[in-house]
Amino acid sequence: MRQAIQNLEESKIREVANAGLGRSDVLAFWFGESDEATPEFIRQAAIESLRKGETFYSHNLGLPELREAVAAYSSQLHPAISSDRIAITSGGVNALMLAVQMLVDAGDDVVAVTPVWPNLTAQPLIMGAKLRRVSLKPAGGAWTLDLQALLDAITPATRLLIVNAPNNPTGWTLSRAEQQAILDHCRRTGTWILADEVYERLYYEATGNGCAPSFLDIAAPEDRLVVAHSFSKSFLMTGWRLGWLVMPPEMTHHMSKLVEFNTSCASVFSQRAAIVALQRTDEVTPRVVAHLKKCRDILVPLLQALPGVRVEAAKGGMYAFFRLEGFDDSLQVAKRLVAEAGLGLAPGNAFAPEAQGWLRWCFASKDPQRLVDGVGRLRTWLHAQK
Ligand SMILES: Cc1ncc(COP(=O)(O)O)c(C=O)c1O
Repeated sequence: MRQAIQNLEESKIREVANAGLGRSDVLAFWFGESDEATPEFIRQAAIESLRKGETFYSHNLGLPELREAVAAYSSQLHPAISSDRIAITSGGVNALMLAVQMLVDAGDDVVAVTPVWPNLTAQPLIMGAKLRRVSLKPAGGAWTLDLQALLDAITPATRLLIVNAPNNPTGWTLSRAEQQAILDHCRRTGTWILADEVYERLYYEATGNGCAPSFLDIAAPEDRLVVAHSFSKSFLMTGWRLGWLVMPPEMTHHMSKLVEFNTSCASVFSQRAAIVALQRTDEVTPRVVAHLKKCRDILVPLLQALPGVRVEAAKGGMYAFFRLEGFDDSLQVAKRLVAEAGLGLAPGNAFAPEAQGWLRWCFASKDPQRLVDGVGRLRTWLHAQK
C-alpha cells in the first residue's frame, strides 16, 4: 500500500456521524446536504430514461446534449463558453480529483486556501504532492483572506492553487478584485488555478446574476484555470453523483482519457435528469437559495445569542461556522454534543488545524424548526456545562 494513502486522515465528520449511528433522536446537521429530496420532475426524467432502456455507457465526456446544456447554463451566468470545454463527471468530488490527477505530479508544490472541505487537501496528497496551506484569518465570527500572504505563497515553483469560494465551511467568498489579483499573479508564476465553485449559486449578497464572483468571469479560455462544479447543491442532487469541469479547450481531449480510466462516464439516467434540471433551473435553484437564506437568517441570530458563540452570517454556501469559546477540542465537543445533547455538528478541525475550537452547522434544513430545536439543545447543553 502506498504510504501517501496510509497517511491520509479519516474524515472527522464521519467519525462524529458514526458516533450517532442508529440513533434516531439525533438532530443531524453534520453533512453538507439538504434533507429535501430532488424535485419530482428531475426524478421523473431519470425514470423515463431507465424505462426507455438507457442502461449503457455514454461518451467519456458525457452526453453531448448535457455538455451543450451546461455550456448554455454557464454562458447565462458568465461569459459565453463552448461545450468543448466541458466534461461531465461523477460528482463534484470526482471533477476535483480528475483535475488534480491532470495537473499534479508527485513532489509538486500545491497551495490550498484553508479551512476547506477536507477532500480538497487530501486529493493532492493522494498524488504525492507537497501541500502548503494558506489560512484564512478569523476576525470575530468570520474568516478573511490575507491576499498578500496568499500571493507570497504562490511562486514559480507552485504547480497548482486550490481555492474554494464560496467556502465550505467558513462561508467566506472571494471578491472580484481578489480573484483578479490571484489570476494576474498566477499568470506571472505559471501556476494553475483549480477553482471549486460548487456553491456559486448559494450566494446571499445582492448581485446582478444571483451568483458569486467566478474566475470564469475574468479568465480567458486558454488561461491555466480549471473550474469544478456540481449538481448536488443548487439542484438538490447529492445522491446522483453528477458534476462538471470547465477547462481550457486543449485539455478536454486528455480529460476524456482520464475519465475513461476513472469511471468511464457518469451514469446516463443521471445525465438525463441533469438535462431537465438545467432546462428548468428557474423552478429549483432560486427557491432553494431563498429557502437557504431563510434558514441562515433563522439560525445565525439564535446562535449569536448563545453565550460564548462567535459567528457571522455566511456570504455563501450552506453553513454556519462558529467558535465556541471555552471548548477547544472540536472533535471531542462534537462527539459530546451527539452523545449528551442529541445534536450532530461537524468539528472545525476536520477542515484545518487552525479551525480547532470551531463547529460547522449545515443549515440546509427543509423544516427550519429543526434548526430552532437544534439551537435549543445546544443552549441546554451549554447551560449544563456551567
Ligand atoms: C467545497 C465542496 N466541493 C465539492 C463538493 C462535492 O460535491 P459532490 O461530490 O456531491 O458533487 C462538496 C460537497 O460537499 C463541497 O463542499
